[in-house]
Amino acid sequence: MPEKKYQDEIDFREVLRSPSRWKGAIFIIVIALIITGGEIYLKNIDKIFENRIPPRIGPDTLMFNEIEMMKGVHTPGQNIEDLAKPTPEIIEKGKQLYASTCASCHGAEGKGDGTAGTSLNPKPRNFHSKEGWKNGMELSNLFRTVNDGIQGSSMVAYEYIPFTDRFAMIHYIRSLAPDYPAPTPAELAKMEQTYRFSEGTTTPNKIPVSIAIENLATESKKDVDTISSVFAKLSMDSTSEAITLINKIASDKKTLLNSLNNIKPSNWNHDYFSEFLISASRENGLKPAASNLKPEQIRKLYDYFSQNGYYLSRQ
Ligand code: HEC
Repeated sequence: MPEKKYQDEIDFREVLRSPSRWKGAIFIIVIALIITGGEIYLKNIDKIFENRIPPRIGPDTLMFNEIEMMKGVHTPGQNIEDLAKPTPEIIEKGKQLYASTCASCHGAEGKGDGTAGTSLNPKPRNFHSKEGWKNGMELSNLFRTVNDGIQGSSMVAYEYIPFTDRFAMIHYIRSLAPDYPAPTPAELAKMEQTYRFSEGTTTPNKIPVSIAIENLATESKKDVDTISSVFAKLSMDSTSEAITLINKIASDKKTLLNSLNNIKPSNWNHDYFSEFLISASRENGLKPAASNLKPEQIRKLYDYFSQNGYYLSRQ
């Protein structure tokens, strides 16, 4: 009898045979899974929302291409009829120029799938498709696009490239698909009228962006050096009365020094300096407290900056 009772209570075979009892079991299992799942989810919520796909920025997606140092070139005048002729040599030259200048966006084969173009809106044009051209597929319109760029897109103007090279790239693009209409004589005449290819052009000298930035940096390096040395003094020497004052009136010492440094040497005098302080402009790195400075305190600061070589180096 006790054996029978025991069987009654946990007769698993019986349980399996009765679907209504499993439903109960499944229900409990599902609830348990939801609870554990929820707990895991909450524990890892930071990781779940973390963006694990790296942003699409890499060396080949830089939006400005470093231009090469180039002496301005003179392109001698050429006949538009000759320019409009796609010879195999011109197409080959255009292919190479295209690969270095345009393929990053338009793709190696001109399908609009270059790595730098993936995140652009509007997307770079697919040169194999007839749909959706903004300026158009005609020779004159292709030239206009490359000459002027397309406003509101990352298609910039390439007017600095000699026009013969621009024609070469255009001829290469036109060789990619059979749909490009042949230029009409009227179209060519109009192009000559607009761009005066027969007169030739001279492109200006160019220096690479990095060198331009370097030049700017050397020019301002002296300023940066003085600002840094004064800043170092301001941070360290708390015994000087002038420095205690500066710490009191500056909301941002570097900004303050920078603004002072931007005062033209010809304006550097006590009155100008005093107005500068009393205006207590936040943009100049000053706190409102600066407007309450006493005349002798202003004098102290004026002497401090004048004597610390800060302005002397600029006069
Ligand atoms: C930085 C990316 C980028 C580079 C580099 C670039 N393009 Fe484009 N280009 C675009 C984008 C984006 C469009 C689409 C513009 C639109 O639809 O408004 C476009 C469109 C065009 C068009 C089609 C204009 C039309 O009528 O719809 C031509 C032609 C073209 N590019 C030629 C060139 C040539 C030639 C070069 C190289 C000298 C070049 N592109 C380099 C981004 C680029």
